Amino acid sequence: MKQLELLHEGKSKQVYKTESDEHIIIRFKDDATAFYNIKRAKIENKGKMNAEISSLVLDYLNRNGIKTHFVERDGNDGQLCRVVEHFPIEVIVRNIIAGSMAKRLGLEEGLVPDNTIFDLCLRDSELGDPLINDHHAVALGLVSYEELATIYEASAKINALLVELYHKAGIILVDFKIEFGRTASGELILADELTPDTCRLWDEATGERMDKDRFRRDLGRVRETYEEVASRLANALK
Ligand code: TMP
Ligand code: ASP
Repeated sequence: MKQLELLHEGKSKQVYKTESDEHIIIRFKDDATAFYNIKRAKIENKGKMNAEISSLVLDYLNRNGIKTHFVERDGNDGQLCRVVEHFPIEVIVRNIIAGSMAKRLGLEEGLVPDNTIFDLCLRDSELGDPLINDHHAVALGLVSYEELATIYEASAKINALLVELYHKAGIILVDFKIEFGRTASGELILADELTPDTCRLWDEATGERMDKDRFRRDLGRVRETYEEVASRLANALK
């Protein structure tokens, strides 16, 4: 599909109009940012690797009964996607305690809870995407209780499928962030990237970080790690 004008440019992606009102092209940039733009860098090849990883993962979810915005890969660094109206909320799914949850509650990273944890956050970077609960989200008119039920059910299924896929790649899926939206025809679908920028991935064999924490925490070998995730996923899906 033909790419038309730039509609929106974010920290790590650009969104382009296409000839169809129902489709956009999303391009992944090499830029990396963390801590709300305080830390910034360019990581060579990250755009291409994120396009590859996200395409592999979303295609796998599509084939396994999850409705997503992904249609097809577009060039090296892009994806053709369905247009949605996003709910202004983020769901964070946590299988292992890490990151902000460990910090906020004074817990050690690596703790494995008996249940899966679902965080709900308001999508507002000026406020730092604050943690909210279902009642806040409904009271603010962001989403209905029925829509939340669908979103949590889909998030749990997505988590189960991704844990299995990453396990085949020798990787532990620690946590990830996803967003949902509605298409013009009213379908509620997953509409987000799934990349090492938005997931925590730990090597099963060594415990090594294989995600954006390498950049956030200055652990080095960021580019090589994203390339390794892409290659392991491609092998796992063969
Ligand atoms: P957190 O530990 O900082 O709350 O992050 C949990 C997961 O969500 C982690 O995999 C990174 C991802 N994430 C995003 O993709 N975007 C965000 O804005 C935040 C805060 C987290
Ligand atoms: N919300 C954070 C940021 O804007 C996300 C992150 O640290 O990955 O940088």
